[in-house]
Amino acid sequence: MSNDDKFKKVISHAKEYGFIFQSSEIYDGLSAVYDYGQNGTELKNNIKDYWIKAMVQLNENIVNIDSAILMHPTIWKASGHVDAFNDPLIDNKDSKKRYRADVLVEEHVAKIENNILKEISKAKKKFKENFDSDQFLSTNPRVVGYKSEINKIIETFNKVLENDDLVGLKKLIEDLEIVCPISGSKNWTDVKQFNLMFGTKLGASTENATDLFLRPETAQGIFVNFLNVQKTGRLKIPFGIAQIGKAFRNEIVARQFIFRMREFEQMEMQYFIKPGTQKEWYSKWKETRLAWHLSLGLGKENYRFHDHQKLAHYADAACDIEFDFPFGFKELEGIHSRTDFDLSSHEKYSSKKIKYFDPLSNESYTPYVLETSIGLDRMFLAVFSKSLIEEELADGSKRVVLKIPKILAPKKIAILPLLKKDGLPELSKKIIEEFKWDFNTVYDEKDAIGRRYRRQDALGTPFCLTVDHQSLNDGTVTIRDRDSMIQERMKLDEVKLKIKNELDIKTWLSF
Ligand code: GAP
Repeated sequence: MSNDDKFKKVISHAKEYGFIFQSSEIYDGLSAVYDYGQNGTELKNNIKDYWIKAMVQLNENIVNIDSAILMHPTIWKASGHVDAFNDPLIDNKDSKKRYRADVLVEEHVAKIENNILKEISKAKKKFKENFDSDQFLSTNPRVVGYKSEINKIIETFNKVLENDDLVGLKKLIEDLEIVCPISGSKNWTDVKQFNLMFGTKLGASTENATDLFLRPETAQGIFVNFLNVQKTGRLKIPFGIAQIGKAFRNEIVARQFIFRMREFEQMEMQYFIKPGTQKEWYSKWKETRLAWHLSLGLGKENYRFHDHQKLAHYADAACDIEFDFPFGFKELEGIHSRTDFDLSSHEKYSSKKIKYFDPLSNESYTPYVLETSIGLDRMFLAVFSKSLIEEELADGSKRVVLKIPKILAPKKIAILPLLKKDGLPELSKKIIEEFKWDFNTVYDEKDAIGRRYRRQDALGTPFCLTVDHQSLNDGTVTIRDRDSMIQERMKLDEVKLKIKNELDIKTWLSF
């Protein structure tokens, strides 16, 4: 199945099973805005919980806040967003479609990289066990040619980005003969900068209204509360402030489902540290965040670090954790060493002293900041897309199963009476009464048992408990595991213990 087909399946499965709907669908939708359905909301909440537990509950020196979306407009001047939160856009004059100029170049490079992968796969087939990857990459004339082409493009690309050279960026697009995917033409406008913040107004009358922005990141709500939290919490450096909340960006190219949205959620943590220690904390948080991702068991091969060549105005080091989405490796989380840029800038713009007094060294200083920032919706897409599997079974039949990490599954247990009579539904309901205090449980009595198993597989429910006539006699049920499909008969107490063990947060998060 091609990546494109796989991605289409992800989108349709998300809708069919109540995970994600297009926003305002009955009015033909709103571009790049989505609603989470009954199962999507559970999965999203479980991801948030998994992040909060790892970042806040397990770290005595990290606290959680919830700041407002509407903030004083000067904050966005101080943060640099008013002047520098821009994307370079370009229009195709024939199709009238708008693109991010930098993304057009990146996609062109990705195509050449793909050609290299194709050559590798051909050579692997040809040379079989004699294939030597290093030798092939350094000597095959076609691959060497592709690599040198990529290096030349990247060199020019970095130069024009560093110099904010919009004319140079357009020239690069023309030199590479990049065409519009819709019209197929090279008839491009000039490249322009476009600010991504959404404006809104505060106030009852137009004359007195104040222009505000919907926050484009949650981080600034943390910076402007630095002193409030540090003082009231009597926190000592190093310490962190975490926050989960909505952010808004008027993205130019809002494609790829929930990967790039105009309204989305971030899970951010600012770690306040002593100046000079940023390198050490940068490595530490890179390692810690990757370990968090790996703890979910989606496969080590699906993650990689990408170091930023062009640093944002606030950073002295930055990288992304990239994930292998259905459309290739893309940014999932950012880790940024933000220096003292934000706190110093807010000190300047607010004229309020924002310093930390270090009781150990008896000195006052502006703390440096190490940031980890992950998009909740992107994390959702990573988990959902990697977990959606079509399996061929031993009897030749197929099943669609959502092998979501069990700890994140929307419902943990489905209770299924084998028949809709003989007291089996009543006993099943009693079991729900007993289990619902510990686990998110669902009841299903419609259709044959095999179809119900398939339905729960497609929803990602890790355990199905089937209640049959023997259950009435000896209090046992069968427990079916979603992934192995193995069924075991057990007493209810044993079932509870088994599920508790499998969902034990300590086991999941001990890394
Ligand atoms: N405070 C730093 C910051 O906001 P960012 O790299 O712009 O950094 C952090 O964003 C994360 O937010 C990204 O790694 C991504 O997961 C998520 N994100 C950014 N823009 C997004 C969008 N339009 N839709 C969904 N997620 C987005």
